[in-house]
Amino acid sequence: MQANSSPAANPSSGWSGRFDEPVAEIVKRYTASIPFDYRLAEFDIAGSLAHARMLAACNVISAQDLADIERGMTTIQAEIAAGKFEWSLDLEDVHFNIEKRLTALVGDAGKRLHTGRSRNDQVATDVRLYTRAACDNVAMLLVKLQQSLVALAEQHAETILPGFTHLQVAMPVTLGHHLMAYVEMFARDHERMLDCRKRVNRSPLGAAALAGTTFPIDREMTAKALGFDAVCRNSLDAVSDRDFAIEFLNACTITMMHLSRMSEELILWMSPRFGFIDIADRFCTGSSIMPQKKNPDVAELVRGKMARVQGHLVALTTLMKGQPLTYNKDNQEDKEPLFDTVDTITQTLIIYADMVGGIRVKADRMRAAAREGFATATDLADYLVRKGVPFRDSHECVARAVKAAEVKGVDLSDLSLAELQAFSPVIADDVFAALTLEGSVAARKHIGGTAPERVLAEIALAKARLASL
Ligand code: ARG
Repeated sequence: MQANSSPAANPSSGWSGRFDEPVAEIVKRYTASIPFDYRLAEFDIAGSLAHARMLAACNVISAQDLADIERGMTTIQAEIAAGKFEWSLDLEDVHFNIEKRLTALVGDAGKRLHTGRSRNDQVATDVRLYTRAACDNVAMLLVKLQQSLVALAEQHAETILPGFTHLQVAMPVTLGHHLMAYVEMFARDHERMLDCRKRVNRSPLGAAALAGTTFPIDREMTAKALGFDAVCRNSLDAVSDRDFAIEFLNACTITMMHLSRMSEELILWMSPRFGFIDIADRFCTGSSIMPQKKNPDVAELVRGKMARVQGHLVALTTLMKGQPLTYNKDNQEDKEPLFDTVDTITQTLIIYADMVGGIRVKADRMRAAAREGFATATDLADYLVRKGVPFRDSHECVARAVKAAEVKGVDLSDLSLAELQAFSPVIADDVFAALTLEGSVAARKHIGGTAPERVLAEIALAKARLASL
């Protein structure tokens, strides 16, 4: 192509008029977003239809133009659904691809669609609609995961395992209580997702390139048509900021962090050293060289994928940090981290809810572990306090009893009454009720405690809450 051949320098682009030579091939590939932003198509079409209907209602385009645009968009939707739409790299992004196809289908009406709008408010609108749908889907999947955890917790409201601090045996807890701890975390994640949705769900449409438009548009109308709760109140901010996406990635990162913690526990619990659980075969893989291996790959990969999602969060905050107002091409880089986060967290949550349902609990192994490590030492200390010994003294006295039991290689509950009385004369034979695992957990029946009766009450509350969502 010759220089000065404008406007044919790049005849298919939406902006070739003032250019003297075509964009270099490598630059075209470098700057194009169509390889990934085609995923915004359904939202782009929804935004365009809302915009066109508003333009017609405000007498900026004719009723005939609107009818043509609607007809063309119906065809385009069908082509995309059938996998027949031809995405062209020459057309840079999803917005130009659809607009050019529309014009090819319906002529001038297609060219009028972009009146009073820019790709800057268009892309911001598309990304918000995409993120809103993701918020809803992730929130729904978080509910399913909680339901799966609650079901397992209910089966194990009385199953006892050691609770840990510093990964050292601390006190006996019920497995139901342990699982319900994750339900609390995912309940907050769900809340965070819906809270984030409020700030995602505002309409940038009408901000145009950056300063608004000279056409008599009705922004409230497009906002309402697209289900937005409100309009962005400042056009410069509307086309520029991506904090709503950052907030979403942050919420996803926290969820992945919770899933990663749980994965770490499942991995430990499945190790023969613990032997607390078995994860269903369909979530595990074997080793090509060690025939005995059954690896908890899914849990490990979830732990790994947390890093990936957190990386996306860091990418997006870094992407924004040096940008002057308003839109800069940098913003095109918001999409891949966002899309990949949505794909990753969606698959993770679906698999996880199913995997939790497939956990086989080895209650005997848990119980045996709870009997090691003097898990009821605090119960003995509390017992002495109830008999009038000041807590600090009872703590010291129990520490000595633990040392003696350790030397003897037995649990505190295995010491005889006479042996225990050597540490404190107030100890009577009712001490053994406090030293059993059942006695220990049953005593912690206040709100937030590990007692089976309390756990069952919390499960009932959680079930009612989840059913009402
Ligand atoms: N593909 C662009 C993006 O993803 C669309 C907006 C382009 N706007 C512009 N003025 N170049 O951000």
